[in-house]
Amino acid sequence: MNTPLISIKNLAAGYGTNHVLKDISFEVFHGEIFMVVGESGCGKSTLLKNMIGLHRPMHGEIRFRNKNICDFFENDQLYEIQRFFGVSYQQNALFTSMNTLENVCFPLKELTDLSLDAVKKTAEMKLDLVGLGNCGQLYPSQLSGGMQKRAAIARAMVMEPEILFLDEPSAGLDPSSAAELDHLILILSRKLGITFIIVSHDLESIFEIADRMLLLDKETGKIETSGKPASLKAKGSKKVKDFLNRSINKNVRSR
Ligand SMILES: Nc1ncnc2c1ncn2[C@@H]1O[C@H](COP(=O)(O)OP(=O)(O)OP(=O)(O)O)[C@@H](O)[C@H]1O
Ligand SMILES: [Mg+2]
Repeated sequence: MNTPLISIKNLAAGYGTNHVLKDISFEVFHGEIFMVVGESGCGKSTLLKNMIGLHRPMHGEIRFRNKNICDFFENDQLYEIQRFFGVSYQQNALFTSMNTLENVCFPLKELTDLSLDAVKKTAEMKLDLVGLGNCGQLYPSQLSGGMQKRAAIARAMVMEPEILFLDEPSAGLDPSSAAELDHLILILSRKLGITFIIVSHDLESIFEIADRMLLLDKETGKIETSGKPASLKAKGSKKVKDFLNRSINKNVRSR
């Protein structure tokens, strides 16, 4: 039996008295593209922030390679775990004062002892991978929305993470840029074996690229359902089918 790369058990998460997520349990396996969906405010970003050790869970376990992330809060050792994670946040996190290449170089400069030359070469390779090989000298303001998302992915990948967490990667993109981004994620997954955990509103994207999805329910703070998108659409409860059909209709992409 395949062992999970990351497993969440009975997680409760939130902020002070706001208990957003309750009794959340699921597993993600190596090489999967796993999508977390649900209506705005249901706790998708909260789940992601707990998984990457940015917020401390209120209850439960998050195990990465069988180590409980919660234990690493005690002794300030979160980096031991976080170095395996690449993250692209919902609010685009490119530094506007740096050009694209400098943005991608940043984690390597901060976190490794690589020479400046090696840093630049590695960053250039990642920009090439996301189709921005010629754009290193451009500033974020000079990139299109889709290019900014790809640059953020290049930066999230620069430390060779095992899991890439992307929070709403296609938000604000036009349909063809969103489809290009889906294609990039598929290529990176299949060619490099990177595991993706993607928070998304974009149901079209789910049917294009997700191996499995998890739907959070805002009312209860629990998992409504999880599984393969196509089979959930065919066999899910009325609530699940309504969610998938409604969102697709609202968000049809031209091809
Ligand atoms: N830093 C914070 N402090 C306090 N409450 C927060 C914080 N971040 C989020 N919340 C609350 O947690 C709940 C879930 O928010 P979250 O951002 O996780 O939702 P989401 O599913 O990612 O929504 P969206 O699709 O709009 O991005 C909301 O009620 C929100 O107000
Ligand atoms: Mg969010």
